[in-house]
Amino acid sequence: MAAPQSNKSSKNRWIKIAAIAIAPALCAALPLPLRAADKPAKAVDFATDIKPILSQACYKCHQPNPRNPRGPAGGLRLDDKTAALKGGKSGVAIVPGKAEDSLLYKVLNGPTKAGDHDVSGMPKPMKNQPFKPIPKEKIELIKAWIDQGAKWPD
Ligand code: HEC
Repeated sequence: MAAPQSNKSSKNRWIKIAAIAIAPALCAALPLPLRAADKPAKAVDFATDIKPILSQACYKCHQPNPRNPRGPAGGLRLDDKTAALKGGKSGVAIVPGKAEDSLLYKVLNGPTKAGDHDVSGMPKPMKNQPFKPIPKEKIELIKAWIDQGAKWPD
C-alpha cells in the first residue's frame, strides 16, 4: 500500500508546483483597474515615487549643467526643491493641491499653453520627433502627488 500513497503525494506536489507557477501569470492577466481597486488609495511619497521619475525623465535638461551656460531648460530646475517650487520662465509650475492648474502636470500630456505662449509636451522631444509621453502610471503618480499637496521633504 506504500506505492499508491507516494504516488498520490507526488501528484499533489506537482499540483502545488503548477499552482505556484501559474499564480503570477493569472495575476498579471487581471485587468489593471481591478488590481488597483484592491489597494486603498495610497499617499504618494516624493522620495520613492516622484524623484525617480523626475531624475530619469527630466533632470537631463532641468538641472544646472556646467556644459550648458544657458542654464536649465525653460529656467526650470527640477532637482532642487526651492528652485522647482519657484518655477521657470512661465512662473510657478507646481500649484500644490491643484495638478490641473500646474504646468508641470499639463506638459506631461502634450503641448500646452502658459499664458500666451506655447510650451512643448515634456519630456521635450528631439527636433522633428513626435512627442512621446512618459508612461500613464507615472503621469498619474505626479498628478496624485501634486493633488496631495506636492510634499517635497528636505
Ligand atoms: C530634452 C530636454 C528636456 C527634457 C528631457 C525635459 N524638458 Fe522640460 N523643457 C525643455 C525645454 C527646452 C523647455 C523650454 C520651453 C519649451 O521648449 O517649450 C522646457 C520647459 C519645461 C516647462 C516649462 C517651464 C517654464 O516655466 O516655461 C516645464 C513645466 C517642463 N519643461 C517640465 C518638464 C518635465 C516635468 C520633464 C520630465 C518629465 C521635462 N520637462 C523634461 C527641455 C526638456
